[in-house]
Amino acid sequence: MPKRRKKMVDISNGEAQDLKRSVEEAPPEIMIVDDDDTIRRILSKLMSKKGMEVTLAADAAVGRKFIKSKEFDLVLCDINMPGESGIEFIRYLLTTHPNTAVVMMTGLDDPQVAEAVIDIGIYAYIIKPFRPKQVVISVVNALRQRELEMQNRLHRKKLELLVAKRTDTVRKTMSELKQAMVGIVEAMAKMVEQKDPYTAGRQKRVSRLATAIAGKMKLDDLQIECVRMAGFIHDIGKIGVPVEILNKPGKLNRHEFAIIQSHVQIGYDILKNINFPWPIAQAVYQHHERFDGSGYPRRLAGEDICTEAKIIGVADTIEAMSSNRSYRSAPGIGNALDEIKKHRNELYDPLVCNALFDLTIPEIEGLLALAPNSDE
Ligand SMILES: [Fe+2]
Repeated sequence: MPKRRKKMVDISNGEAQDLKRSVEEAPPEIMIVDDDDTIRRILSKLMSKKGMEVTLAADAAVGRKFIKSKEFDLVLCDINMPGESGIEFIRYLLTTHPNTAVVMMTGLDDPQVAEAVIDIGIYAYIIKPFRPKQVVISVVNALRQRELEMQNRLHRKKLELLVAKRTDTVRKTMSELKQAMVGIVEAMAKMVEQKDPYTAGRQKRVSRLATAIAGKMKLDDLQIECVRMAGFIHDIGKIGVPVEILNKPGKLNRHEFAIIQSHVQIGYDILKNINFPWPIAQAVYQHHERFDGSGYPRRLAGEDICTEAKIIGVADTIEAMSSNRSYRSAPGIGNALDEIKKHRNELYDPLVCNALFDLTIPEIEGLLALAPNSDE
């Protein structure tokens, strides 16, 4: 004989231990709803003999009163009764007490009635006159089926809780890992700035402008984060370029220019073995490639250049023309924008240019306004 659950605890926030505590065993509580006094007495005797605790109701109205104060494992209910019909009562019962099993009894062997009551979710349907054994078997089977369903539901809930807990742990670990990665990138950026104070902060400015352009392009979050991070260290390779060449006033000769250009390869070599969640190494490697294939180091063109690199290339150009250098004063943002406009479709990807021009000049000025050496 299946034992009843004394109480069902809310396990939405509980642990497995709470679940164990929720399955304290007790005799099944059943209610018999029938207007026939003889049937009520016979059934009550049968069920009590089987160790069940029985409550008797002479009609649906009495049944409703009982279910308001007591939780039944099973309700054995007649269909045709004076007042509210058994079907209506059971509909109400299953709405308010979905964990209660229902077995229905009727004097009518009507397939349409049987179909209707099965559809509302009862466990068994007994035709009167019935043999006592038949009723006992139906009730015991219904209790067993209900028990299995409840176990199944609890098991599923436990699994859902477990999955939610594990997912939270993985999410937390990923978030910590990402923070660590961000820390590495920031440390790298500081190293570059130490080496080349003249351009200190420019990587930050490029990163801010590039991120705004990526946002205007409506890239996904991962790509925008990649643009931000790669922009932050796009010139990390300059760490391998002699300071006297980096800060040389006046024009560079061909040899010196080649050394400067090597910063993309050096940057790539520094980053390529770090398993970032973003393609930062490629973005850094390609940020001097140009849309028409005239850039360096590999003369990539069009779609062969990754979007992140194309965005950083445009932001880098704007930033470079808006700030002073040791060998010239700043041409200014207006001239920088004219330069981009002039070479849209040629040096610069039109989609990136369009996104840039979606920003207003004050917005661009704001993004580039970081003071050198700012930690912001
Ligand atoms: Fe660069």
